[in-house]
Amino acid sequence: MKRITIAMLTLFTLCIAMETAVKAEKKQRILIAYFSWSGNSRGIAQKIQRKTGGDLFEIKTVSSYSQDYSTVLKEAQKEQRSDARPKLKTHVKNIRKYDIIILGYPNWWASIPMPVATFLEEYNLSGKRIIPFCSHGGGRFGQSLTAIAKLSPDSKMGEALSVHYSGGSSLDSDIDRWLSKNGLGK
Ligand SMILES: Cc1cc2nc3c(=O)[nH]c(=O)nc-3n(C[C@H](O)[C@H](O)[C@H](O)COP(=O)(O)O)c2cc1C
Repeated sequence: MKRITIAMLTLFTLCIAMETAVKAEKKQRILIAYFSWSGNSRGIAQKIQRKTGGDLFEIKTVSSYSQDYSTVLKEAQKEQRSDARPKLKTHVKNIRKYDIIILGYPNWWASIPMPVATFLEEYNLSGKRIIPFCSHGGGRFGQSLTAIAKLSPDSKMGEALSVHYSGGSSLDSDIDRWLSKNGLGK
């Protein structure tokens, strides 16, 4: 009787250990990669980081953009018209360890800033899920989601979030709802 009890207890412990291992394996590893010129996308990315526990990565260019608004408008337009790929000075160490890339950026001329295009082309993102968020001044996503899908045809696209500038008082709950829709809620 004693032996049977010990055997059953061992089996039970083994089952629990296996279940824990399977759960740990299923946990999705998240990278929050963002580009930001005036800080809005950065602030949103930091909030998402705190909520998901993912790794935060800033997409930075070798040549910096002008701090002057009307000048950066022209710089960005020129890059977009020439379909430029600005050189990046930051690189993700091991992209292979991530299952999900939460990708944040401002709407620039109704699309993605070109450094985001450089980022998407730099890595093999096939099979990974890209979940975009876009900070904007009224134009919401513009053509940015189409641009991302074209640059990463082998990735799965998650439900995207648009945020007006730095977001209003509902930003926290908007992010929570959006994360839940993407299966990343608490
Ligand atoms: C170069 C440039 C182009 C922009 N183009 C648009 C646009 O086409 N539509 C829009 O709604 N907002 C546009 N904006 C406004 C930004 O999307 C908005 O200010 C955003 O919150 C900035 O995010 P950031 O602080 O992360 O850079 C533009 C801003 C800049 C600097």
